[in-house]
Amino acid sequence: MPTYDLVVIGTGPGGYVCAIRAAQLGMKVAVVEKDPTFGGTCLNVGCIPSKGLLYASELFEEAGHKFDKLGIGVSKPKLDLAAMMKFKDEGVEGNVKGVAFLFKKNKIDAYQGIGRIAAPGRVEVKTHDGKTEVLETKNIVIASGSDVARLKGMEIDEKRIVSSTGALVLGQVPEQLLIVGAGVIGLELGSVWRRLGAKVHVIEFLDRILPGMDSEVARQFQRILERQGMTFQLSSKVTAVDSSGAKLKVKVEPAAGGAAATLDADVVLVAIGRVPYVDGLGLKEAGVGLDNRGRVNVDHRYATSVPGIYAIGDAIAGPMLAHKAEDEGIAVAEIIAGHAGHVNYDVIPNVIYTYPEVASVGRTEEELRAAGVTYNVGKFPFTANGRAKANLQTEGFVKILADAKTDRVLGVHIIGADAGNMIAEAAVAMEFGAAAEDIARTCHPHPTFTEAVKEAALAVDKRAIHM
Ligand code: FAD
Ligand code: NAI
Repeated sequence: MPTYDLVVIGTGPGGYVCAIRAAQLGMKVAVVEKDPTFGGTCLNVGCIPSKGLLYASELFEEAGHKFDKLGIGVSKPKLDLAAMMKFKDEGVEGNVKGVAFLFKKNKIDAYQGIGRIAAPGRVEVKTHDGKTEVLETKNIVIASGSDVARLKGMEIDEKRIVSSTGALVLGQVPEQLLIVGAGVIGLELGSVWRRLGAKVHVIEFLDRILPGMDSEVARQFQRILERQGMTFQLSSKVTAVDSSGAKLKVKVEPAAGGAAATLDADVVLVAIGRVPYVDGLGLKEAGVGLDNRGRVNVDHRYATSVPGIYAIGDAIAGPMLAHKAEDEGIAVAEIIAGHAGHVNYDVIPNVIYTYPEVASVGRTEEELRAAGVTYNVGKFPFTANGRAKANLQTEGFVKILADAKTDRVLGVHIIGADAGNMIAEAAVAMEFGAAAEDIARTCHPHPTFTEAVKEAALAVDKRAIHM
């Protein structure tokens, strides 16, 4: 029977990164993956394919609507959706092959099949040809990720009623795309299909888009998306979809109850969140406890209720983000090896890869107010940033929230082109406990969008230069 120091179940960003870090620390490591390719949700049906389509569709839109303003004369761009999908698939393939390469390089044994915890220290792998292999191991890390949340009575067929997975492979641009949920997936994939020609209408249960994000950012973002052509119906819920005819008939009601209206759609995207995926792992029999939302219960060392069994990533509490899963993978490998692995949950950046992008790290104004923390706000609009003006990319702003007593940066919120790359600076600053003054006194390259971060830091002390 093969014997390991660590068996990781699942090869998403949590699992594969954990396996590599453990191998670096000298452990004999195996991974178990039920899907045909490594990389989990993120690489196969999540971050990577969605960003591929976001990139390609953004260029498509620019070629159609912006190039002429820059003096580039091109004829109206023609969409070759099959070729765009192939481009996206090649990006996925390159990434999943990269993980297979890294497993080999780090001498990690990879088992293809469904992993089940038969007992502490024992993982059973059921391969797709029906064989079972048993692995003995000192430690197990559950990195089984998440799955789409479903709406009662609305069956996802991945053709007309789709989750994000189906929305990444549509064979044609729907005339009318109705999206349930104005969260990250709805707004990213809604942007993709709107740019490619769909009429996109978003139904959101709450009275705002992007719950959890800074509300000033969310309001401005909604206005921008509306200008781009997306429409929103807030405080509303979808209660049924009739798929018997050529068009889907979608029944929509006010969230608080009331008269229902029926809307037509060619495709409905259900994007109301994700739920932890722990099916088939045998957790109940193994005695591994779950919380009331079905997430694996862990302590601050990622240890479950059973010694030697740990869990990370989307399967446990916290934001369902690839980089959060990766950092937990590294931390748990280090903890198992006897080191001091740690993740700072106060500094986990969040990015929405639309145009403009939306990025944040740390606390929102709402959270600070609720916690009774007094803070100063420094804000700087991209309309006053030289590079943004030169590029005709002036939408949005940078907002820095700093402690009123200590000037320590507590939150940074950016809406603007390239916000996703810019937020990393704020994360590093916050990780080092920076004051707004530290950012304000750091020389930023000119002309870049990042100067808006410096100006927002200056604005905390009411001394922005270009405003
Ligand atoms: P997963 O990536 O879900 O991987 C879990 C793996 O475990 C899967 O491969 C699964 O097959 C395997 N598995 C499960 N059970 C078993 C078993 N019993 N035996 C064997 N294998 C098993 N996050 C970002 O940070 N940035 C983004 O831009 C982003 N975009 C996204 C876009 C979409 C459309 C979606 C759906 C998600 C996106 N996410 C993004 C979220 C991100 O994909 C997840 O947070 C991340 O993949 C979680 O990593 P994980 O390792 O915990 O789990
Ligand atoms: P989400 O949690 O971001 O948004 C779901 C939205 O649906 C919320 O606004 C919620 O209020 C709404 N909602 C819930 N039930 C509803 C109902 N019955 N009717 C109408 N609206 C309803 O979830 P989403 O967009 O599905 O994404 C899932 C996860 O994937 C997120 O947690 C996110 O972290 C991750 N992700 C991250 C990305 C990124 O980092 N760029 C990109 C895509 C996904």
